[in-house]
Amino acid sequence: MVEMVEHGTLNYEELLVYGYTPGDLIVFSSNVNPYGPPPAVTAALHREIDRDAISRYPDRLSLDLRSRLATHHGVPENAIIVGNGTADLMWLLAFLFLRGKRVVIFSPTFGEYRNIVNLAGGQWQPVCHPGWVRQPDGVYTPFDTGVEEATAALAAQQAEVVFLCNPNNPTGQHWTEDVVQRFYEAAPRALWVIDEAYTEFTPSPWSAVGWHARGNVIALRSMTKDFSLGGLRLGYAVAPAELVVQMQHAQPPWNVNALAQIAGITALEQLAWRRETMARLRRECASLQQALVERGFAPMETTTNYFLTPVTDAAQVRKQLLAQRLMVRDCTSFGLPRYIRIATQRPEQNRVLVEALARLRLPGTQGA
Ligand SMILES: Cc1ncc(COP(=O)(O)O)c(C=O)c1O
Repeated sequence: MVEMVEHGTLNYEELLVYGYTPGDLIVFSSNVNPYGPPPAVTAALHREIDRDAISRYPDRLSLDLRSRLATHHGVPENAIIVGNGTADLMWLLAFLFLRGKRVVIFSPTFGEYRNIVNLAGGQWQPVCHPGWVRQPDGVYTPFDTGVEEATAALAAQQAEVVFLCNPNNPTGQHWTEDVVQRFYEAAPRALWVIDEAYTEFTPSPWSAVGWHARGNVIALRSMTKDFSLGGLRLGYAVAPAELVVQMQHAQPPWNVNALAQIAGITALEQLAWRRETMARLRRECASLQQALVERGFAPMETTTNYFLTPVTDAAQVRKQLLAQRLMVRDCTSFGLPRYIRIATQRPEQNRVLVEALARLRLPGTQGA
């Protein structure tokens, strides 16, 4: 059996053990916009249900959505493929492009990249994000390394495929276009997968979508985070047209359902809503961090809605909070057993978490 890395979203088996329903919890472990989905999306879904969207087969190629995404990003339509969330597209990438490949993964990061490389029988090597070092036991610790070191480590690997999450989950670091260009130059012949699931949460959301024209760069864009469509599932890739054709051939037919397509089309008309909620979340994230600092914690800097906070034992902290119906991300599976990741929620919910954390009284929980 291939070893699989766990996720931080709701684990429904675990909920059964606790006797909880999803609505019983305040979920700080999933990085979804807590203000969504946009009301216009919900209204459009209701309308489409009344118009038979549930019975009719969906457009297999999501042509309408694809065309609007192309206009939105200023890229050709044939550079876009829509998926049932970006996780779906990652598995497609694994099936087509990762078999037996030598893959570099900028780490610590989202565990799904490792999972798909393992499932595809490839070999993965971590290259540390600047600011981190990997210990022999696989644990990552903060370290004073820069772009130079990461670039040199990547160049030494002769990777055939590179995964870069930008901004990175779970660290919240966001590399500028210049820095990513320097990384790219260290492996210019590799296939690059740049996961931009959280780009829109940052104050300066630059995108590598235009890099599809280089012929070896795939940008993954989720719509489940900023537009809060996690349950509906929707994502897309912007990729070289010849790779898009291969992916279309390999994609299970009709796997992007009709309601998800309508949600995506409507969401693209809600950019002002997105801007407003993102700005609000950034302010609330800063307030939450400040409240944690006042309670003796040392949350790490972030560019997104989520951030790492050092604790002595992340698994214990998660467990104790879960007993109080609060779910944070134990970062052990990222190689960060002494960190929890907190995704900013609404102010009243954030206050509940700060109070609960302050009450935990685990040795060393407070402070770095
Ligand atoms: C970095 C990153 N990429 C992709 C995904 C998957 O997103 P989607 O809902 O689009 O499948 C996640 C989900 O947690 C993520 O953290």
